[in-house]
Amino acid sequence: MTQSPPQDDNTALFRKAWTLYDAITEKNYMFHLEIYAHVTALLKERRAQGPYHLLDLGCGNARFLSSCLQAALPETYDGVDLSASALDEARIHLKGIPNAALHHKDMLQAVEDTDSAFDVIFTGFAVHHLDPAAKQRLFHACAERLVSGGQFIMVDVVREEGQSREQYLDDYLNFMRTHWTEVQPEHLDDACAHVAAYDFPETVADLTLMAKQAGLSRTEVVGRYQQHYVLRFTA
Ligand SMILES: C[S@@+](CC[C@H](N)C(=O)[O-])C[C@H]1O[C@@H](n2cnc3c(N)ncnc32)[C@H](O)[C@@H]1O
Repeated sequence: MTQSPPQDDNTALFRKAWTLYDAITEKNYMFHLEIYAHVTALLKERRAQGPYHLLDLGCGNARFLSSCLQAALPETYDGVDLSASALDEARIHLKGIPNAALHHKDMLQAVEDTDSAFDVIFTGFAVHHLDPAAKQRLFHACAERLVSGGQFIMVDVVREEGQSREQYLDDYLNFMRTHWTEVQPEHLDDACAHVAAYDFPETVADLTLMAKQAGLSRTEVVGRYQQHYVLRFTA
């Protein structure tokens, strides 16, 4: 699947300063600990049913998912990301995971282009960068690539029902400025500018409808920490 990725500015922050995201997750400002505990439980549940193949869309440096994989080893792991520096780090975090492959590619293109079938498709904090049409395409492509009974696990930020993007951004930027107190001020400015420019979260109802239109019949809210959700859509 390896090929040159298109230019995409929503990944610029991650190309430039992956350490900033690490600093944010280190302080658990986006609830990675609680969220990835849910993901571990879901993957263990799946592993208990037999071998499984996993695709990770927008894998970043796979720092958090790699621990989940250790607890519930998949037969194969395929990670996709547009950031070459994140993938370089992912190679290190994924040491010890057998049959792990990383692809420097756009996630929508990757899932639309592959012929492989997956039992689990995972995505962490990446889908909110896509516009609604691209999100719908992603749901369709994931539904096509999932085996019967397969699951699409989505970790992402979500808007409240009836909340506009502007209201969401007001709330989220306020949350960042008041709670992310240990991020250096210039880095916090970068992070806020990134969110204001590139975050386009949907509501659970919108995501549920997109999933349904793609043929993913069941939506579950597995966990929720303020605006940060763990959702599972089942084929
Ligand atoms: C906030 S990081 C999340 C990393 C990791 N999944 C996690 O949960 O900690 C979002 C990642 O999505 C990647 N990304 C954003 N849009 C993408 C796209 N269209 N195709 C591939 N990767 C993308 C970025 O490069 C970045 O590594």
